[in-house]
Amino acid sequence: MSLYLPDNVRVNHERFKLFITKEQIETRLQELGCQIDAEYAGKKPIFIGVLNGAFIFLADLMRYVSIPCEVDFFKLSSYGDEKVSSGKVTERKDLDAQIEGRHVIIVEDIVDTGLSMSYILNLMKHKNPASVKIVTLLHKPGAMRFDVTLDYIGFEIPTLFVLGYGLDYAQEGRNLAQIYVLDADGGNGE
Ligand code: IMP
Ligand code: MG
Repeated sequence: MSLYLPDNVRVNHERFKLFITKEQIETRLQELGCQIDAEYAGKKPIFIGVLNGAFIFLADLMRYVSIPCEVDFFKLSSYGDEKVSSGKVTERKDLDAQIEGRHVIIVEDIVDTGLSMSYILNLMKHKNPASVKIVTLLHKPGAMRFDVTLDYIGFEIPTLFVLGYGLDYAQEGRNLAQIYVLDADGGNGE
């Protein structure tokens, strides 16, 4: 079986169409990896992936980074099973690593309103890291409601619901190897 690369897909009775291809993702990850290599030369950053959505992006991004680095995970949940944010953030798993004095790079799949990111940033800063930067694969500038600086952005996208490449809709669709957008013309139902 090769990578799962359909042009259109139905997830939880809704149609999604291809939005960002595997090639576009790879090219962008290569650029981000180079930038991180250059900006963290001589340091050993720790990537902190925000579960569940960031697991694929983090795994791929790390493989474009050649400086010494470490990884840990933090688990949050804010969306529930809907396509709009619940507006509440719950912490499900704290870090295992000690990040005091460390250069932290928070890795997120998507920043929508910015609520999750501002919550995580606040928690991280209390642990006294040497520095904290954020890398997000996707950003919806039109939905942003919190004042958070995003240091590295893969793609800026319109305020539309997307899935695939780690991002889910009611927990499904994370296994898609590319990014898909809700197809407004695709209709509902089977
Ligand atoms: P925020 O706290 O509003 O910025 O939302 C961030 C979280 O909501 C992300 O980490 C995702 O897990 C989820 N999310 C936001 N937009 C989307 C989307 O279009 N598709 C899937 N998940 C999303
Ligand atoms: Mg997420």
